[in-house]
Amino acid sequence: MSMKSKSKTIFICQNCGAQKPRWEGRCSDCGAWNSLTEEVKAPKSNHSLRGWKVEEPLGSKTLVQLDQSFLQTQLVRYSTGISELDRVLGGGLTQGSLVLVGGAPGIGKSTLLMQMAGGISSDSKSVIYITGEESTAQTGARAHRLGIKSKYVSLLSESNLDVILQMAQHHKPEVLIIDSIQTVYIPDLQSAPGTVSQIRECAAQLLQLSKTTGMSIVLIGHVTKDGNIAGPKVLEHMVDTVLSFEGDMTQNFRLLRSLKNRFGGTSELGVFNMSTEGLKEVTNPSELFLEQRSENTQGSVVFAWVEGSRSLLCEVQALSLKSYMAMPRRTSVGFELQRLHMLTAVMEKHLDIGFSHEDLYINVVGGLEIREPAADLAVACALLSAEGNFSLRPQLTAFGEIGLTGEVRAVSFAEQRIKEAIKLGIIEFVLPKSNEKHLEKSLLTDKKYNFYFINQLRALPKILKN
Ligand code: TYD
Ligand code: MG
Repeated sequence: MSMKSKSKTIFICQNCGAQKPRWEGRCSDCGAWNSLTEEVKAPKSNHSLRGWKVEEPLGSKTLVQLDQSFLQTQLVRYSTGISELDRVLGGGLTQGSLVLVGGAPGIGKSTLLMQMAGGISSDSKSVIYITGEESTAQTGARAHRLGIKSKYVSLLSESNLDVILQMAQHHKPEVLIIDSIQTVYIPDLQSAPGTVSQIRECAAQLLQLSKTTGMSIVLIGHVTKDGNIAGPKVLEHMVDTVLSFEGDMTQNFRLLRSLKNRFGGTSELGVFNMSTEGLKEVTNPSELFLEQRSENTQGSVVFAWVEGSRSLLCEVQALSLKSYMAMPRRTSVGFELQRLHMLTAVMEKHLDIGFSHEDLYINVVGGLEIREPAADLAVACALLSAEGNFSLRPQLTAFGEIGLTGEVRAVSFAEQRIKEAIKLGIIEFVLPKSNEKHLEKSLLTDKKYNFYFINQLRALPKILKN
């Protein structure tokens, strides 16, 4: 039978990968709007496409016992030469792993991975960098600018996956970097590069390459405008590790987060600064984020934030204005809006203040995004100060989760937060009462610092105003 008679078109949701016989305005599986595109249905092929060989004879399989000898096998990891990246990866790039690095265009993914290639090569490990987006001249010029000169790093400008696989099998590099997964394609498939079918099949073949040869493969992935990695979630399921490279384009710093990691924790955070000589690691991010703090501290408070093993200080600002609308505005950048609504409700109820005729704005300075409830108390401080038109003491920090009954609940890593804040000159701390008993005695008795332990939100205004 000819190819032609077999090919049939179907509609695939570019968001979740669901396949539909006909077009739908809204995917009935994941609810995404306008996400269905017509693709040519891949003909069933008899070589394994999903990364697993199902038809292998049973005799070739053995069971592995979880005994002592198994425990002794260690994961081999390559140091990337960038300690922030090593930490986010869980201690280096694991041999034979498949890693996906996602991020908005221009954020610095290619720069990061080129610098990683340089770092890995300095250990005499060979790296092939495949560029499907730029010419080798462009990529080479960037590498040169970043000071990477090594015979262990080679470039290839190619987007045909068959060629890439042959090159990789022939040269057997320790690490293969694909820039980007959206540009590579399998010529046998009739869908365009970047579509769900292409991405899925390419990733499956690369997965098989990494698992059979022990090659570590790093994929660069573009993100869609809502921040998800383009292509179906299935790509994220297939890979071992998903890293997300984020940051405010108007600022120089960049955050590297791990969203999934089969070889380490997922709460690690790496901080970089984009300079003319590429990405520089930021070892003291708090300084960077507090650098431009203004003298005027009305509606501004320092929050000690912990993510993974990292603690950093940032500034939370609030502004309150008389509203001219029936429904006053609530705007929040860097702090979850739902939480802000909840917080203002709790404050109205328990502090007896009225926000109903005020527009409220919250901003976490520097384009950071706080995702932990410990910031509640800092936001409450900023709101109180903005609403009451009084300045907060500049060397004060607050952290704690606020519940619906106005209770201030314990947060994790209280001591770590305090210590980080002390480094930057903070001397007053407002924190949950229930954190007190776990703190070091020597810290509490130190005359230089003032600690205010509170159980209830009600106690907050007096502390801030005294
Ligand atoms: P790039 O790594 O190409 O981003 P991505 O691969 O995520 O699309 O880098 C993006 C930006 O970084 C680019 O606009 C220029 C800037 N940049 C620097 O500021 N310094 C440098 O040394 C390099 C290489 C890039
Ligand atoms: Mg790029």
